[in-house]
Amino acid sequence: MASFLVLYGTSEGQTAKVAEKVADTLTRRGHAAESVDVESSSNITVDIFDAVVVGSSVHVAKHHEKVRDFVSENRETLEDLPSAFFQISLSSASDDEERRAEAAGYVENFLEDTGWEPDRVGVFGGALRYSKYGFLKRLLMKRIAKDATGDTDTSLDYEYTDWGEVEDFADDFAAFVEGRLDTSGA
Ligand SMILES: Cc1cc2nc3c(=O)[nH]c(=O)nc-3n(C[C@H](O)[C@H](O)[C@H](O)COP(=O)(O)O)c2cc1C
Repeated sequence: MASFLVLYGTSEGQTAKVAEKVADTLTRRGHAAESVDVESSSNITVDIFDAVVVGSSVHVAKHHEKVRDFVSENRETLEDLPSAFFQISLSSASDDEERRAEAAGYVENFLEDTGWEPDRVGVFGGALRYSKYGFLKRLLMKRIAKDATGDTDTSLDYEYTDWGEVEDFADDFAAFVEGRLDTSGA
């Protein structure tokens, strides 16, 4: 059994849901997984865990600021441990090649800026929660959604996350960690 930290940053809650799914999947494989909101914890000790998963949503082409800070501050520890990154965005909800390339570009920029080289990366579609947005945000997201997904009915909420893909990501990373622990004799 390995211990996993699943650290995430969210604005409207979708990344928290994905982090829970990742943690559940790891737990079902017999591991201990603790999912932690970066906003709710100021002092997170990373090196007490065997492996780390970090997740962030994208807003206006940027990742959650505190997740970025966390990765920059803990980069050396993250390099020493098996680590994985996942990203939640609307760009990954689109079938359009250009949009999907945009999502890959967000990841590239994030890893370049922080200098982190995670062992696994997952990109997943997020959600449009019109019911949670204020007037201006609703207007902005309706405009963005017109091209991205076509879902512009603001009386509805939309969820694009493929939960099977999230499970596969968590299972794949768990298998990688299990292999690493076996070879190190732990
Ligand atoms: C104000 C705002 C700006 C956003 N900007 C982007 C963006 O630049 N690119 C993108 O792919 N998705 C963008 N999104 C979509 C979010 O990534 C998506 O809604 C995601 O599910 C949010 O995750 P969270 O609920 O964990 O915060 C934006 C959403 C909002 C509300």
